[in-house]
Amino acid sequence: MFQNVQTAPPDSILGLNEAFRNDPNPEKINLSVGVFKDANGVTPVLDCVKEAERRLVSDEKTKSYLPIDGRPEYCRLVRELMLGADHEINAASRGVTVQTPGGTGALRVAADFLAKNLPGRRVWISQPTWPNHPSIFAAAGIETVGYPYFDKASNGLAFGEMMEALEKVPSGDVVLLHGCCHNPSGIDPTPEQWKEIAELIHRRDLLPLVDFAYQGFGDGLCEDAAGLAALAQPGQELLVCSSFSKNFGLYNERVGALTAVAGDSAAATAVLSQLKNAIRANYSNPPTHGGAVVETILSDATLKSQWEGELTAMRDRINGMRTLLVETMKKVGVDRDFSFIANQKGMFSFSGLNPVQVDELRSKFAIYIVGSGRINVAGISETNVEKLCNAIKAVL
Ligand code: LMR
Repeated sequence: MFQNVQTAPPDSILGLNEAFRNDPNPEKINLSVGVFKDANGVTPVLDCVKEAERRLVSDEKTKSYLPIDGRPEYCRLVRELMLGADHEINAASRGVTVQTPGGTGALRVAADFLAKNLPGRRVWISQPTWPNHPSIFAAAGIETVGYPYFDKASNGLAFGEMMEALEKVPSGDVVLLHGCCHNPSGIDPTPEQWKEIAELIHRRDLLPLVDFAYQGFGDGLCEDAAGLAALAQPGQELLVCSSFSKNFGLYNERVGALTAVAGDSAAATAVLSQLKNAIRANYSNPPTHGGAVVETILSDATLKSQWEGELTAMRDRINGMRTLLVETMKKVGVDRDFSFIANQKGMFSFSGLNPVQVDELRSKFAIYIVGSGRINVAGISETNVEKLCNAIKAVL
């Protein structure tokens, strides 16, 4: 039977990581997958995580199953981190959260929930978006449609076109928004633009689904939730897919959450029952470790403040590399204005390099960036920046 199975193409992001690992060039540079790296090119375990793990290992009493929806205290803390303990959503008990294996797990549970409970709705995704978005919804049998987002001419947000397109989305459809640090462009709406987006979404009766994977990597934990805050208005519905891969550096622990905000607490209870239903048929219940680490940190004032400090240091390093990249491009005489990179947010920037140039960076210089031209700025360091800029100059 298996002799007719066709080989699938490698994943456009994780496949590059594999190719990078197999590249024997000692000077190779990996700017593909979105992981933070320190000045030495290492993706560190945060100190607060190490301390939380020490406590967990010594206190752990059982390996018995978690509930289908995960650790209750973790779920509560996730909602608190997003919008604050006093937010109306929490006071009105209309938000429910399930612990999921990473942000991808959250997206898939959301997709399964939508497919079963709101059949026929389409999901509108920004152009461009994270390449896994369309795959996840397709796997759940949901059609995705693009809306304009990136303005090539200004290397900025195509806000007018985006709003025009969203005005035409049929009521009841789902609009996927990147909560902050847009992947792959690094371009976010301003707080004022978020208010306009939220107004349109509510007026047109669309369902916002926020992919929230980079809280704290843009301007700060609170600042990065400006879009969520604009959408989370009294009575309004919302889905949020959280990931703690990046801001806690817990990539391989697969720790995330799906929060559904319903119109009232009775509807929220019904939604939770359906989310549990979707999870049970998918992976049954989540693994505990990553969620326990996040819970331990967020529920301890000292560890939480240590985490905020470590998160700030990661953000500052990335922003420092943005400036250094722009300066080094000028220094080596790159004949193109890359100053826009300094204004973008989070791990990623769109370099504007075309697929041929991306291929040449890889084949001639062993520099790995995603085919769309996306660069993981967090992979840049004082050591590799000059080589990178000279290579970009050569392929341009
Ligand atoms: C990325 O976009 O590089 C990350 O979110 C990792 C992934 O799973 O693709």
